[in-house]
Amino acid sequence: MSNDTLAIEGGPKAVEQLGPFATKIGKEELWELIDLWDFSEDNKEKLKEIILGDDHVRGPHLFRYYNPKPSRVAAAEQAMAALIGTKYCLATNSCTSALVAAYRALGVGTGDEVIVPGYTFFATAATVAASNAIPVIVDVDDSLCLDPVAIEKAITKRTKAIAPVHMRGIPAQMDAIMDVANKKGIPVVEDAAQSGGGSFQGKRLGSIGAMGCFSFDFYKVIVSGEGGFITTNDEWLYTRAQSWHDTAACWRPDRYAHERRDGELFCGENYRMSELEGAVALAQIRKCEQILAGYRHAKSRIKAAIEPRLGLSFRRIPDPAGDTAVCLVMFLPNPEVTKKALEAMKAEGVPIGGVYDSTVRDWHIYTYWEHILEKKCVAEDGLPWSGVPPNELPKYSKDMCPRAMEYLSRALMLDINRNYTDTECDAIALGINKVLRTLLK
Ligand SMILES: Cc1ncc(COP(=O)(O)O)c(C=O)c1O
Repeated sequence: MSNDTLAIEGGPKAVEQLGPFATKIGKEELWELIDLWDFSEDNKEKLKEIILGDDHVRGPHLFRYYNPKPSRVAAAEQAMAALIGTKYCLATNSCTSALVAAYRALGVGTGDEVIVPGYTFFATAATVAASNAIPVIVDVDDSLCLDPVAIEKAITKRTKAIAPVHMRGIPAQMDAIMDVANKKGIPVVEDAAQSGGGSFQGKRLGSIGAMGCFSFDFYKVIVSGEGGFITTNDEWLYTRAQSWHDTAACWRPDRYAHERRDGELFCGENYRMSELEGAVALAQIRKCEQILAGYRHAKSRIKAAIEPRLGLSFRRIPDPAGDTAVCLVMFLPNPEVTKKALEAMKAEGVPIGGVYDSTVRDWHIYTYWEHILEKKCVAEDGLPWSGVPPNELPKYSKDMCPRAMEYLSRALMLDINRNYTDTECDAIALGINKVLRTLLK
């Protein structure tokens, strides 16, 4: 038989064997990563020698699917589901994308409304508009989280979801919020971006509403630099969120199957988490209790040492046992005293911040969300605002959430560092007491 005989007709194969795929990511990339950590110079040299000197290395895929190694993203999802106590968990590349995927999973779209608080990072509201729906901005109470009474008044025939935010480490008033939502049959998306690991009445935040969304960006409680998670007990919502988060790759039980029921196939985006963030997130989720213990110890030591004083009050925490303790919020009697206290405490070296200052733009306060207040659009179709008759759009104004502005203009916020020593905690409390002793006589 000649060499020209086609293999399909019994001839020799042109390609007998190929070597393994070249490693795309190698040791130089690992070295860049290691270099992000501040090891001692001595150890860095040793590590560099080991890493760059090893010629047998095979690099990682860093892609969660089709990975020959067990996926760290999948492991992080499992660990997060176990931590939060939900059946399903989906990793995303941010909480912003988690929120869009959650809203989309619930079917939020043109002509719908989603209730959000007037005090939250802008993402909670922006993602509603990015989903072509209308954010309905509602006031907060003295916990600085959504006020359940105000929610009830804001519900209309268009309300498709309610998005309470567990703001600055504490749980929102979830029993009352769920009562209102359940009475009206409206799903709740918990924005737990700032309160990963917190709980309300024994249930982890993110496991109480229909869906929970978490941020793992560097400034949050448990972090992976960037990253997010969605938690839910509902298989259908999980499936839809997963499809939205991966274009239309739809990893449903069977990737290439036709849809099992209406609403399973649609065009999505790409919010996948990479194995880099997955690996970091996994380690952080495993350390969550230890991380929380650090915050809780430091916060309770500082708080206990602050002398009670007429005119000083603390933010109400709907369930103190569920506080992640990343932030201590105090209220003073009026904005003028608050401003003076802020300057004086800073001069004492206390790392404290104010919240509302009319001269400083802050994306956490609705008065600065001109994108929404002025109904800005990305395209000429006028969406999301053109999706609702003009006379039925919410009436946005800078004074629509008076309680938020009242509390925020009297608030002092101390971000807690979980690595504070007891001596540092005591020095911070001393600085606060010194100032308040003078200002609140
Ligand atoms: C309440 C809240 N929601 C959503 C986000 C968005 O998170 P990410 O940065 O992961 O997109 C943040 C981030 O600051 C946040 O604080």
